[in-house]
Amino acid sequence: ASTLGAAAAQSGRYFGAAVAGGKLGDSQYTTILNREFNSITAENEMKWDHTEPSRNNFTFGSADRIANHARSQGKQLRGHTLVWHSQLPDWVKAIGDANTLRSVMNNHINQVAGRYRGQIHSWDVVNEAFEDGGSGALRSSVFRNVLGTGFLEEAFRTARTADPAAKLCYNDYNIEDWNAAKTQGVYRLVRDFKARGVPIDCVGLQSHFGNNPPGSFQTTVASFAALGVDVQLTELDISQASPTAYATTVRACMNVARCTGITTWGVRDSDSWRGNDNPLLFDRSGNKKPAYDAVLTVL
Ligand code: XIL
Repeated sequence: ASTLGAAAAQSGRYFGAAVAGGKLGDSQYTTILNREFNSITAENEMKWDHTEPSRNNFTFGSADRIANHARSQGKQLRGHTLVWHSQLPDWVKAIGDANTLRSVMNNHINQVAGRYRGQIHSWDVVNEAFEDGGSGALRSSVFRNVLGTGFLEEAFRTARTADPAAKLCYNDYNIEDWNAAKTQGVYRLVRDFKARGVPIDCVGLQSHFGNNPPGSFQTTVASFAALGVDVQLTELDISQASPTAYATTVRACMNVARCTGITTWGVRDSDSWRGNDNPLLFDRSGNKKPAYDAVLTVL
């Protein structure tokens, strides 16, 4: 196949990109997006600050624009994200009462997942709930601090009801190294959910890498998959985009049947949130980089 999406589809996988709605009028951007990718994630537009800026005031204009683009172009749509401590409005952070926060969180999930019910391939139900570094515990957030650790289970159960067809993912960064305490914390969470029948279908490894994936990356992908969930590389970018690093990363997914898709976090280097890292597969002029060819060969 001659595009990323078509090559990934040969093995039943998707190859997606994070999309900024404001760039859909840039014809170079949209040409690459429409040609190469068969899945779309809203880079920011489905986050809480965009979708519910004040309590029970839901604003879906920018998210709808991306969802409409995906539908009209026949692309899969990933949902990102329902419950996250960041890009979270101050009015949510200020809630101190557990009953209030529980109903606010569930209402948010019901409204946002409900709006796109039936259209979302996978939802990042909870994003980045674990602490970075050595503890393997949940990070401090209004959700953990007011609701306790059970907020994750509650969020997944609510999401399942709101959109029964969507795969429900836990998504995080720095969980790609099997030896990291954070990875082990997420692993225990997923294992516990599976053992107790809490609905979870996938783990998103964000995969924001330095120059290379960690040496244990293949083990991590295989180990999560062995719990009986899909694995998706949800926000892939690699500093300086070495072809070898990209090939190694994509091969780790291809080697695991339950690694079902890959999303790069942007289209061109100029679209990346990582400034001057040049971490993507297309350069600032929209040309394919050497890493593009390396990925296409491995898919
Ligand atoms: C980033 C976006 O790319 C930026 O445009 C925004 O300013 C901040 O968020 N982990 C995530 C993504 O789950 O939502 C983040 O996206 C990158 C890190």
